[in-house]
Amino acid sequence: PRKIIIDTDPGQDDAVAILLALASPAELDILGIVAVAGNVGLERNANNALKVVELSGRTDIPVYAGCSRPMRRKLVTAEHVHGVTGLDGPTLPEPQIALQPQHGVDFIIDTLMAAEPGTITLCTLGPLTNIAMALVKEPHIASRIAEIVMMGGAYFEVGNITPTAEFNIYVDPEAADIVMRCDAPLTMLPLDVTHQVLTTSERLAAIAGLGNHTGISVAQMLEFSERFDLAKYDAKGAPLHDPTVIAWLLEPELFSGRQCNVTIETASELTMGMTVADYWLITDRPRNVNFLRAADADGFYRLLTERLARLP
Ligand code: BDR
Ligand code: CA
Repeated sequence: PRKIIIDTDPGQDDAVAILLALASPAELDILGIVAVAGNVGLERNANNALKVVELSGRTDIPVYAGCSRPMRRKLVTAEHVHGVTGLDGPTLPEPQIALQPQHGVDFIIDTLMAAEPGTITLCTLGPLTNIAMALVKEPHIASRIAEIVMMGGAYFEVGNITPTAEFNIYVDPEAADIVMRCDAPLTMLPLDVTHQVLTTSERLAAIAGLGNHTGISVAQMLEFSERFDLAKYDAKGAPLHDPTVIAWLLEPELFSGRQCNVTIETASELTMGMTVADYWLITDRPRNVNFLRAADADGFYRLLTERLARLP
């Protein structure tokens, strides 16, 4: 199986992504889960990561806490989407397992430095603070990363936290800028993709109908987070963001896009955190990102539902 580290700010959609990865041990070996500040504060996000690991029964997976704030900006959170706890919806018991004592950034560095180069993939589901801090603290990790697969950014779909910025990039644009320039292979699952995989009532009913604790909890999570988006977009369901990262690792043929340059806006207040994608290859800027643009939504939900059925 492919070795991965999941960096995340759970978040209902982060939780579903983590569960999808935990349900796929033949393909994915999760070395650790690292929490970052984002959807809510670090403490709550880390606690939510522990709850998700417990829900899945995979308490052997170590969970770390990383950075509690962006590199140079004040933390912006999204309680308006995810609720006060960050994981409102289902009633999940307080976790019995504890966080690892090591800082999440050091875990990322030590793990990459100890492994064969090119064997560890970083999956990022939140702001890129931990990854950028690791790159700054130990630049040698860059050439050892197999790939960074991130949910973040938007181009044709533009923005969700400001008219031109996607939340994960907007929260820490300086961190995103460092990651875009790090020379490791990058794959981006932007809003362009996530706004195609909608949580319609049929799809959520199929997940709830699995009847296992995980399926029921996932449906409750997504019903909670979707009330924000449904009120906003005139659609049959809400976007589902972070699980696309894991789905891409499991079945890349569900997605399509192209290699192109992506640069982060870090100067203009009006467009702060915008991911400027040279999708039409107009410039000769380095093609640093595999920018995905489309998804097979039915195939994605088939995969998600089939995998969630394997958990308790
Ligand atoms: C991203 O922002 C967060 O609120 C979600 O968890 C997802 O990672 C979508 O813009
Ligand atoms: Ca997230």
